[in-house]
Amino acid sequence: MTKESDKTSLLLADAARRGIAYRQSCGGRNVAPSPASLDAICKFVEPLPENGTSDDEILALLDEVGSPATVAMAGPRFFGFVIGGSMPVSVATNWLTTAWDQNVAMHEVTPAAATLEQVALDWLVDVLGLPHGTGGGFVTGATVANFTALAAARHRVFADAGWDVEADGLIGAPALTVIVGEEAHPTLFKSLGMLGLGRERVVRIPVDGQGRMIAAELPEIDGPTIVCTQAGNINTGAFDPIGEICGAVRPSGAWVHVDGAFGLWAAASPEQAHLIKGMQNADSWATDAHKWLNVPYDCGIAFVRNPPDLASAMAITADYLTTDTEHRNPSDYTPELSRRGRGIDVWAALRSLGRSGVAELVSRCCRHATRFAAGFADAGFDVLNDVVLNQVLVAFGDDATTRRIIAEIQRDGTCWCGATVWQGKTAMRISVSSWATTENDVEISLDAMIRIAGEP
Ligand SMILES: Cc1ncc(COP(=O)(O)O)c(C=O)c1O
Repeated sequence: MTKESDKTSLLLADAARRGIAYRQSCGGRNVAPSPASLDAICKFVEPLPENGTSDDEILALLDEVGSPATVAMAGPRFFGFVIGGSMPVSVATNWLTTAWDQNVAMHEVTPAAATLEQVALDWLVDVLGLPHGTGGGFVTGATVANFTALAAARHRVFADAGWDVEADGLIGAPALTVIVGEEAHPTLFKSLGMLGLGRERVVRIPVDGQGRMIAAELPEIDGPTIVCTQAGNINTGAFDPIGEICGAVRPSGAWVHVDGAFGLWAAASPEQAHLIKGMQNADSWATDAHKWLNVPYDCGIAFVRNPPDLASAMAITADYLTTDTEHRNPSDYTPELSRRGRGIDVWAALRSLGRSGVAELVSRCCRHATRFAAGFADAGFDVLNDVVLNQVLVAFGDDATTRRIIAEIQRDGTCWCGATVWQGKTAMRISVSSWATTENDVEISLDAMIRIAGEP
């Protein structure tokens, strides 16, 4: 071995050693970082050094200052936002494929990575019960998955109206109606804005007490129309009646999109699949693998029933690119040209879990959520939502009291939950999305939260 490759091996082994130690610490440490570790972050804030620093020192600085200042999202008792952990196998494949350093734009030059992504995509279509032949692309998350799928929608509805939106843009285009539920996720509006369709130029459909779109309030479909539905409300976990909406609007030519950032995974579990009945009748779907499939960030997927609609919106060519191939070119289906092979982490997670393992993961998280809800109700606190999935909303009294208790729970460090406002009332949100959460973690967390909420 040369001296240089010796140094590289030691460095990478040290990174692995530090990464392993970090992961081992996640279950035992406080979920929130200590005030002292947060203060130490300022060591990163310095002018660009004139000269370089040794690789060993950089890694040590990152680990010694950075690791303690993280919130333990990879651990078993982080219940904020909708944050999955990352399964060990997907972290391991992520490390190996980072070493591969493949740019998965084109099949010709990344045959192994592109094939693995194709297999992962086919498996996702299968496990999520999407229509045979559905295509898609691996993107950074559900925000971009919504953007990507809606770009395909924009292509198709304008093409049907005789307008080439990719070539001619939106100026002078026929009128387009975009319909959303009142409770659509904010990133959906952002995606609409990025597509030039307007964050506010939408028809908003009222929702019920769980945040579900009321299908009877849908307007008559007239002309090019995209209807954006939601599988899994960020607060309640509730589902729009997607099958009913598809039945009402698709015969008139409207495109139905499903934002299923985490809720689409209900389809993978026989116990929860009824919640998302009829969603396979839609035209496009967005989801995250970095949420419920528990792969490392960043990993979302855009699915489109008719893959040429997505390719029409995304594919490019150039003389220097090896786009002419009998294989599927990944970059024909994503906004990015260059990117990492994030679909390989999905392949690893699905191969590790199998169909039954994915179903069990989803059901287990839902069972944990039900247990949280029962524990809070037994202790006399208000559970604000029907707990149908993995989300629980609980109030500890008036808004100020709830906020104070959430802050104390975060400070205590046994677990971590965030705040929200649900239909005018401040609540604590619990989202159970991690493979690592056990029944014991739920009990430890419940005990701590109920104890803190009971303190004067
Ligand atoms: C319904 C819904 N859509 C979109 C998103 C955005 O996902 P991401 O942060 O992965 O882009 C979320 C995030 O929680 C979500 O719940």
